[in-house]
Amino acid sequence: MKTVDIVESNRLKMRHGEHIILRLTYISRYNNDNLNGEVTRILEQAQQNNERNGITGALVFNHNYFLQSIEGARPVINGLVRKLVKDERHHSLQVIECREVEQRHWSKWSMKYLIPSEEKKGLALKFSTGSEFNPYLMSTNQITMLIDTLSEL
Ligand SMILES: Cc1cc2nc3c(=O)[nH]c(=O)nc-3n(C[C@H](O)[C@H](O)[C@H](O)COP(=O)(O)O)c2cc1C
Repeated sequence: MKTVDIVESNRLKMRHGEHIILRLTYISRYNNDNLNGEVTRILEQAQQNNERNGITGALVFNHNYFLQSIEGARPVINGLVRKLVKDERHHSLQVIECREVEQRHWSKWSMKYLIPSEEKKGLALKFSTGSEFNPYLMSTNQITMLIDTLSEL
């Protein structure tokens, strides 16, 4: 690319907010009735798309709930959220936190997959409010601490 073209492309990116990085965390419920909903397929699609779209993040699947943290350029994250809300493989999506960040937390991962093993299931409960794991009853802090702790195991 010529220098003039690079300058022009950067100018356009700035205009669309592509230099701003957002991190968004949400929770949702797995839709058991959707026959195309295998979690491995969802993960594969996420990893392929994210590599192309400059998105990084982590996906937790536990007791039929998803907890996902995605980070990338603001317009790209907004585009993905629109798709996620319409995706029938899960439902009741609730945004937990959305903020602009200086640096990516998941920079090494197009989508890191975190599924608590049987013995680690207790860990999820440690961050929960009641005796059953239910992220809809957990605070933003509890949810982000759970994702971070699982990613460090
Ligand atoms: C729990 C869950 C997590 C997902 N995560 C991502 C993701 O990180 N990136 C992505 O592109 N699609 C993700 N998807 C799929 C999107 O909802 C959507 O189907 C996909 O982006 C459409 O891709 P396409 O426009 O290439 O057809 C996820 C779906 C579910 C149910």
